[in-house]
Amino acid sequence: MFVLAALAVLGSSAVQGRELLQSSPAGDLTPAVPVDVLFAWHGVGTQNYTSSSNSKYTLYGAMADLFKGNTSQLVGLHHFNDQDKPEFFNIDSNGNVLGSVVGSPNRKTTPPRQADDGGFGSVDELLLNAVQATGTMQDVIYIQRLNTLGGVVPTGLFTLPAFNNIPNSLLDVPYQADYIFLVPAGSAPAPSSLAG
Ligand SMILES: *[C@@H]1O[C@H](CO)[C@@H](O)[C@H](O)[C@H]1NC(C)=O
Ligand SMILES: *[C@@H]1O[C@H](CO)[C@@H](O)[C@H](O)[C@H]1NC(C)=O
Repeated sequence: MFVLAALAVLGSSAVQGRELLQSSPAGDLTPAVPVDVLFAWHGVGTQNYTSSSNSKYTLYGAMADLFKGNTSQLVGLHHFNDQDKPEFFNIDSNGNVLGSVVGSPNRKTTPPRQADDGGFGSVDELLLNAVQATGTMQDVIYIQRLNTLGGVVPTGLFTLPAFNNIPNSLLDVPYQADYIFLVPAGSAPAPSSLAG
């Protein structure tokens, strides 16, 4: 398994207090109904890809620690479940929610480049429908992935001819993003009662 050491250093040193530049949204990020923010968490982790025989990498999962706002307080986890759906957990409680991307975003062939992305661009901003939600997250109806940084397969380095014949090669690319958990307007509990 390949991990990009240089980008991993970038990711771990950049957890707190830094302003992430906006990448361009893949589609409409605006929920269809009025919403309030339940949780605003910052994810630090990897987007996981696997290679096919034509030297292309396909996303098959992700893994991220989720921190409260821009603090170092770990409050959640993000991964892909057994059905390949993005899933989010509130580790302070029994809350969890599954997401389903709204629309069909096309990964940009040339991702927008940012100063801190290691030169490879950043994954798309997304709007996800909450398809299943429980516990402290039971009222969540949407999740936005915003302020993305990194997570894109580096070009050049991993399109060498040698890779044509190495299918199923794993590549975990460090990324960060804000995950905003949205509930119907008026239904968010008072901030002091929030677990995360
Ligand atoms: C993604 O990569 C991370 C870091 O290597 C790993 O901990 C996690 O298990 C991977 N997720 C999947 C779905 O393989
Ligand atoms: C972190 O701070 C930036 C810059 O002020 C802000 O845009 C972003 O929404 C914050 N992230 C979270 C999860 O609160």
